[in-house]
Amino acid sequence: MQKEIYYPNPEFAKDARINSMEQYHQLMDEAKRDYEGYWKKFADEKIEWYKPYSKVLDESNAPFYKWFTDGKLNVSNQCIDRHLEKRGDQTAILFEGDRGDVEHISYKELSERVNRFANLLKEKFGIKKGDRVVLYMPMIPEAAYAMLACARIGAIHSIVFGGFSAEALKDRIIDAEAKLVITADGAYRKGKPYLLKPVVDQALSDGVDSVEAVLVVQRNREEINWVEGRDHNYNELIESFSTKCEPEMMDSEDPLFLLYTSGSTGKPKGVQHSTAGYILWAQMTMEWVFDLREGDVFWCTADIGWITGHTYIVYGPLAAGTTTVMFEGVVTYPDAGRAWKMIEQHGITQFYTAPTAIRLLHKMGADEPKKYDLSKVRVLGTVGEPIDPPAWKWYYEVVGRGKASIVDTWWQTETGGHMISPLPGATPIKPGSATFPLPGIMAEVIECDGSPTPVGEKGFLCITKPWPSMIRTIWGDPERFKKSYFGDCKKYGKPVYFSGDGAMVDEEGYITITGRTDDVINVSGHRIGTAEIESAIKKIDRVAVSAVVGKPHNIKGEGIFAYIVLKDANDDKEAIKEEINAVLKQEIGAIALCDEIVFVPDVPKTRSGKIMRRLLRSIAKGEPITQDTSTLEDPTVVDEIQKIVKEG
Ligand code: WTA
Repeated sequence: MQKEIYYPNPEFAKDARINSMEQYHQLMDEAKRDYEGYWKKFADEKIEWYKPYSKVLDESNAPFYKWFTDGKLNVSNQCIDRHLEKRGDQTAILFEGDRGDVEHISYKELSERVNRFANLLKEKFGIKKGDRVVLYMPMIPEAAYAMLACARIGAIHSIVFGGFSAEALKDRIIDAEAKLVITADGAYRKGKPYLLKPVVDQALSDGVDSVEAVLVVQRNREEINWVEGRDHNYNELIESFSTKCEPEMMDSEDPLFLLYTSGSTGKPKGVQHSTAGYILWAQMTMEWVFDLREGDVFWCTADIGWITGHTYIVYGPLAAGTTTVMFEGVVTYPDAGRAWKMIEQHGITQFYTAPTAIRLLHKMGADEPKKYDLSKVRVLGTVGEPIDPPAWKWYYEVVGRGKASIVDTWWQTETGGHMISPLPGATPIKPGSATFPLPGIMAEVIECDGSPTPVGEKGFLCITKPWPSMIRTIWGDPERFKKSYFGDCKKYGKPVYFSGDGAMVDEEGYITITGRTDDVINVSGHRIGTAEIESAIKKIDRVAVSAVVGKPHNIKGEGIFAYIVLKDANDDKEAIKEEINAVLKQEIGAIALCDEIVFVPDVPKTRSGKIMRRLLRSIAKGEPITQDTSTLEDPTVVDEIQKIVKEG
């Protein structure tokens, strides 16, 4: 299987934007020869500048790299206004609700909605350039309007995924010192209404000083609590604002948004993205990786609370002037045919989802895609976690009918857009490999000293040159930014970005991602730090020690496996299990619930007191222990834990 190579469908490749490996190499060579010239060409061609930039890349204050210095632009102009003449009546957002309700929002309508929203933010709430606005929203078009309205007036949005708990929301609001929270009463999932607003109420109930107002979009009109003076009804207010709002002149380097993500310490990091570099690469990758053409209907199933939703539901597709599908529901409801039915009904041409969803859809209905007309689909994408060859094959053969190209896209919240991915009309694919860096991206698999990792061995996946859409800093913590991502590898002369992932290169240069090398677990393509989980569990008084690791899971990719040491070994274990999951739900959200919890007498620690997580990972997987255990404080504990795990 690993040796099999899949070539692009020649019929499709002949008209593709990048249609051969020669063309790929040409672009890559151009970038290597004249890096700034390469990016200048695209920045000039793709972006509508209000004022030209004076320098392409400023490396003087590395790793705080700057792109397109002094350039002025506005992302909402890039995504809306400049399309109006040609595409005013074309659908910009194709919304499908959980219950099957469909709405087509044209570019013209999008413009009106966003302009009104921008005026509302400015005039009603006094939101100005640089203010932070937190969005805690379901997947409804108003979420996109809110993002673009912030971009229009220069406010920095920070979206918090709707599955995060009140505590997690509160931490993010406080860290960003947000002035306004935009939310909805709730939305619909699996045929039923659910609520979001109570979570916001709880988050704001105590200890948040910065928030002056809450703007509430009515989606399901369920009864919610209303705080007089603080809460405002979007639906009642919006129509009174004008459909014209001059876009703010933004500097290339002005922050566009913050998005919090997990790292190896307990506190989530506010990843800060820029204006020009981000939108340029969002648009370019949208066009190249999905081989975007006129008339396409693009569907990315992510939630806007994650980077994939930012770049490939809102900013990338709209900057590229295509039709983007936004879906409120889940692809397995009411049955395993929902996604395929939507693809047929809307004539979707590119479908982009996570391997977890592919495995689930495969399991729930392997033949289900055959019942629908999926013939318009040209590109099928995956993101967020490694895709295993059986899932890849089913996606390719059954969903793609052996004709669509599969793009396994590797990237991160911090990279802003795709970094390593096949080009659908050019790259011969080896299933399970993200293949090659995109043109202009200098990705290398290296050792700590910067030397290339030998073929077939695991090394650190690094990006050795800055790229336009890279993270600019961690909000409020530039030191952490430097420490988290830039080692002091001298070989490249400049600080080099380390992704936190391991990878392997084969003899033909194909890159395969081998997973995180830090203490981050990837559950269904979502990053969760073990430290975050452990610090939540620590709140339970009866727990003495907890150590959390990822364990392979046949649907979710990785599941959460917790080792717990109780203060009193005779305590009621079932009750504590429940308590652990309750506290995780309260502190983080349902995505952090443990799949397995085992009670152990102790956890293996080095003599300096560091928990040996690698050992715990091997034990959870049921692997034989190959690591040296002689340096442990108490080596006998390993046998004991192994026995407990084996006996379940
Ligand atoms: C993992 C999601 C294997 C990786 C866009 C990375 C992947 C983390 C892939 C980023 C892929 C993402 N193959 N692993 N194609 N894509 N990952 O920030 O570990 O939510 O570091 O961004 O997901 O997750 P994030």
